Amino acid sequence: MKTIQRRDFLKQAACTGVLALAPGLPLQAAGQRCRIDVLLDEPIGTISPDIYGHFAEHIGGVIYDGIWVGENSSIPNYAGIRKALVDHMRRLGPSVVRWPGGCFADSYNWRDGVGPRDRRPSRSNFWVNTRFLQGAPDGPAKYDPNHFGTDEFVTFCRLIDAEPYLAANVRSASARDFYEWVEYCNAPAGSTTLARQREANGYRDPFGVRFWGVGNESWGCGGDFTPQEYATEFRRFTSWVPKFDARPAFIAAGPSGGDENWTRGFFESLTRRNKRYVNRVYGWGLHYYCGTAGRGALDFGPKDWYELLGKAVVMEDLIEKHWAVMGEFDKEHHTKFAIDEWGAWHPAGTEAHRTHLFGQTSTLRDALVAALTLDIFNRHADKVVMANIAQLINNLHSLFLAHEDQFVVTPNYHVFEMYAAHQNGQSLRTVFSAPEIEQGDRKLAGLAGSASLHDKRLVLTVVNPSITETREAQISIPGATVKEGDAHTLSHSDIHAHNSFEHPDVLVPKRHRMNVSGTDITYSFPPASVVRLRVDLA
Ligand code: AHR
Repeated sequence: MKTIQRRDFLKQAACTGVLALAPGLPLQAAGQRCRIDVLLDEPIGTISPDIYGHFAEHIGGVIYDGIWVGENSSIPNYAGIRKALVDHMRRLGPSVVRWPGGCFADSYNWRDGVGPRDRRPSRSNFWVNTRFLQGAPDGPAKYDPNHFGTDEFVTFCRLIDAEPYLAANVRSASARDFYEWVEYCNAPAGSTTLARQREANGYRDPFGVRFWGVGNESWGCGGDFTPQEYATEFRRFTSWVPKFDARPAFIAAGPSGGDENWTRGFFESLTRRNKRYVNRVYGWGLHYYCGTAGRGALDFGPKDWYELLGKAVVMEDLIEKHWAVMGEFDKEHHTKFAIDEWGAWHPAGTEAHRTHLFGQTSTLRDALVAALTLDIFNRHADKVVMANIAQLINNLHSLFLAHEDQFVVTPNYHVFEMYAAHQNGQSLRTVFSAPEIEQGDRKLAGLAGSASLHDKRLVLTVVNPSITETREAQISIPGATVKEGDAHTLSHSDIHAHNSFEHPDVLVPKRHRMNVSGTDITYSFPPASVVRLRVDLA
């Protein structure tokens, strides 16, 4: 089958061309047809389910008031864990959850969180001194009772069929504390004092934790290290860690956004004495928050909409740039990305409760940020083995909001639910041709997305970022015959649309059957939408 180059499309497609804009706003493109070409013979790599991972830190309302309600609570729970959360997470397919931070991880002593709950110590939370929490009522957001520790976290992961990813404390604990945590989790039943301690706590069999983070943001809250200093710490922490039956996969603290000096400095220093040290880095923990645009999570205009979406897709440049730097030291690219914090970050003011530090209400705009980002990860399935949206509940780009017995899913949840169909599929190169939207000196693709193949089923997800224009696209799958399909669409006429405790179903995906047969499909992507098409191929 002929390989189709993007430049060929730019010549062919009737609807291409950059739209000239009033600042931040697209001109009319109505009636212009667009193209999406799914190239079945250009596989990129298998989409790891861990790309659809989560992050849960001891911060604000994530753990207490979010995940953990306690066994004696009147709020329905499984062993103290909020039932509604577990029930919804089970619909997203197996994945991974990172815990206990974030910045909190580098202040955490794992021993505080095991053993009988009533005897566990209370500690000041890492975030206690933030201005937001001053004046807020005292409680677990300020003083952590340690009721949710390693055992409870692993129980949560088992309930939702996720792999645990534990982030170790490099700033204020020792390498010994780290490998003893590994031993507590993974040593065979009865083998060591720590294995017997685990058994006494109710968990005879090893947890089999594979993913271990070595610090967090070690260039900042995780120790203010230089990349060279951090490389030394990484080597020290990962030397002679007991393997047991779960061979550890170490995730190193990566850069903040575009800081290539951190990436270059770390890998250069790590490999100076022995190139093989790079084999110890399973994942490079890039963090990228696209921030905000406008006055707040709910207070923004069309120009801010495009600005934020434009900042979200910077993720793709970051992956490509850091990948090239990593390749200078790791030609075979043994190390892949574990993008263990990503999402939008809006100013305070829309959180579900006064103690929910960094809590925010997510709108349709955030759903598009999530979809654009997940599509980028799918398109780079050969480079990204894990990603963790920040954070699961009551925080930045959350899938859920909860307070006491109230619980609601955000539009981000619906994106994850729709995109779960990509997990374990073969990512396929897909070329989108649609009028671009100019955003300052950047251009936002008029349609963007990703495709994956699962035996004879094709999953195609598409974002139409235009607030005003429907994009009618001809979808071509050269070499395939389409039997049938269905479509799920998440959209709304109000770009500020969001779900709340009072109105939980403002934004929910709508399902349609598609009339398809033959080789091509024509589909109209509504304005401001995330669409998932599933088509069965003959
Ligand atoms: O997600 C909130 C915080 O953002 C994390 O604790 C930290 O790693 C990052 O700076």
